[in-house]
Amino acid sequence: MPTRRRFLQHSACLAAITALAPWLGSSPAFALNSLMQRKIPSSGELLPVIGLGTSRTHDVALDEEHLGPLREVLRTLVNGGASLIDTAPSYGRAEAVCGALAAEDMMRKRLFLASKVSSSGREAGQRQIAASFAALQTERIDLMQVHNLQDTETQLRLLRKLKEQGKVRYIGVTHYLDSAHEHLLQVLRREPLDFVQFNYSVGERNAERELLPFCADKGIAVLINRPFQRAALFDKVRDKDLPDWAMIELGASSWAQLMLKFILANPAVTAVIPATSNPRYMADNLKAGLGELPDARQRQRIVELFA
Ligand SMILES: NC(=O)c1ccc[n+]([C@@H]2O[C@H](COP(=O)([O-])OP(=O)(O)OC[C@H]3O[C@@H](n4cnc5c(N)ncnc54)[C@H](OP(=O)(O)O)[C@@H]3O)[C@@H](O)[C@H]2O)c1
Repeated sequence: MPTRRRFLQHSACLAAITALAPWLGSSPAFALNSLMQRKIPSSGELLPVIGLGTSRTHDVALDEEHLGPLREVLRTLVNGGASLIDTAPSYGRAEAVCGALAAEDMMRKRLFLASKVSSSGREAGQRQIAASFAALQTERIDLMQVHNLQDTETQLRLLRKLKEQGKVRYIGVTHYLDSAHEHLLQVLRREPLDFVQFNYSVGERNAERELLPFCADKGIAVLINRPFQRAALFDKVRDKDLPDWAMIELGASSWAQLMLKFILANPAVTAVIPATSNPRYMADNLKAGLGELPDARQRQRIVELFA
């Protein structure tokens, strides 16, 4: 277990690197450590455990004023060793924003792009998927998911065909409510899928009961949405200091990192996708994918901090 002394030495070392190499920006830690990766069970491909959500944060005008900070978020993501971006046609201009940024500086090659279909009926689904390819400015989408289990069977048929054609690499389904977990399980029992995406956090732990163990057992990759419950979890610790043990034992230097480490401690989780429009938050979130993860006792202490 890391000691306080080792932690302080490490911090001093990072500070020195930042001073010597300012171009490393806000993520000097990656010069020393590499971001954790986990296998996608259906292929064995490794995926970095920290990704980026885009709901609301990326629904902005496609002008330099708005794209500038989001470009920095994306650069921070890839320079930190991550690649996954999750978007959707229902997130306003987010897909087009991701597509515009991915088209710059060969960025697309460094990204694992995930989007969704949220249509009813075959033709509507085909139209929406075609629009996603156009908005994302790509010929291949890494992961396509049926959004919120809308018209699941019809849309999955479309996604399977795209996978056969090599236009989509992986397919899955998503939801964001505890009340939909049973429905997700029914679909996962019936359909062979590469990925499933659902809500799980220190504040919403229902997935621990059945979904997460089921996915681990069946070999389904898991993406976690709403890791901060849309930032509501920060309110629960607003007046508290991050405890020393979180820094010393886990190397967590922010509440965000502690919340993300709590999620990543579950071995069924493949990656987590916190949304942000702030490059500093992106760098902060990436650090959760470095160093130690909490054991059962430490997880219980984290739960108590947010009770
Ligand atoms: N049904 C579905 O498929 C579904 C449903 C829900 C979510 N999702 C996906 O999951 C993603 C994440 O969920 P979410 O967007 O609902 O909520 P979230 O990731 O739990 O929370 C996002 C909020 O946290 C803040 N934040 C991010 N990093 C932070 C940090 N290090 N310190 C302090 N604040 C931080 C952001 O602030 P700023 O805005 O200031 O950056 C933003 O307001 C979505 O964007 C979407 O891609 C999918």
